[in-house]
Amino acid sequence: MAKNPVRVLVTGAAGQIGYAIVPMIARGVMLGPDQPVILHMLDIEPAAEALNGVKMELIDAAFPLLKGVVATTDAQEACKDVNIAIMVGGFPRKEGMERKDVMSKNVSIYKAQASALEKHAASDVKVLVVANPANTNALILKEYARKIPEKNITCLTRLDHNRALGQISEKLNAHVGDVKNVIIWGNHSSTQYPDVNHATVTTSSEEKPVRELVANDQWLNTEFITTVQQRGAAIIKARKLSSALSAASSACDHIRDWVLGTPKGTWVSMGVYSDGSYGIQKGLIYSFPVTCEKGQWSIVQGLKIDEFSRGKLDATAKELIEEKSLAYSCLN
Ligand code: NAD
Ligand code: LMR
Repeated sequence: MAKNPVRVLVTGAAGQIGYAIVPMIARGVMLGPDQPVILHMLDIEPAAEALNGVKMELIDAAFPLLKGVVATTDAQEACKDVNIAIMVGGFPRKEGMERKDVMSKNVSIYKAQASALEKHAASDVKVLVVANPANTNALILKEYARKIPEKNITCLTRLDHNRALGQISEKLNAHVGDVKNVIIWGNHSSTQYPDVNHATVTTSSEEKPVRELVANDQWLNTEFITTVQQRGAAIIKARKLSSALSAASSACDHIRDWVLGTPKGTWVSMGVYSDGSYGIQKGLIYSFPVTCEKGQWSIVQGLKIDEFSRGKLDATAKELIEEKSLAYSCLN
């Protein structure tokens, strides 16, 4: 029997990531090849005509799984009954800017959209915040949408996770699908900590630690980390625009794993509210290693954290605490 359609909201749908992600969702990349979807697309008035153009293209592409399209500049209409919300709307960082430079514009959007989601979305809506500063926007959304369970509000660090997999795969000339269990700790910013201490690569059906295969701690502890931390800026420098296809694809990975589950023995990185695990202040939206089952994520427990890592976990937490107070000062 055919499944009922899932309603998926994409905010900022007339923008770059929006344009890349809506066809992925309509093709089943996010929720699977047998899951019909109804797309809800929100943008602001100046982008209304472009948004309508995206709707026209979705119709022209004749996606069999796409059972309807709502394209609107009205947040209430956009949020009505949505099951999944991909929050991309906002202002992207330009060359030379840090993510916190886009803070004041973006946090006020997230405060306003929190109440639209709380009032009009399905009560079990799953929310993924992509727009920067992603962790802090998600935190503001969580604080101003108290009726949405805090476990349902997350932010995107899967792009950083995938970037880390990509760097290891390039270094070892291994297939990226054979690399697993890297971790992104903390903020989706240049203080994030890409950690390979528990990561493995499967070669000739044998799973080996990345540290053993790379056998170059100097590279892993310096250049690898900074390359992943600075990858967003490197893309902006090269494209004069921030990442879009990789962001869209990683957002699909995030929701797919959250809804359909992570493969056995594999974890992924998600920005989720901290319950105090690994000594991270409760309530921050912090990227942890998680496994997902039956639509619920859980933080992987019991990983050994060495002294080098401890410093990095705490530094990125400190930045998130500072961002939180900056966000509140922008809102007041
Ligand atoms: P973009 O400028 O191309 O698109 C953003 C869209 O949001 C525009 O169409 C704009 O009109 C719309 N918008 C602005 N205010 C809005 C509002 N109040 N409601 C609804 N829509 C609104 O930008 P982009 O390249 O698509 O990037 C979007 C965001 O995602 C940026 O903040 C960017 O920094 C961030 N980003 C995050 C990651 C990540 O890994 N977390 C990766 C890439 C980009
Ligand atoms: C990215 O990581 O590519 C995005 O967050 C864009 C940015 O500002 O770096």
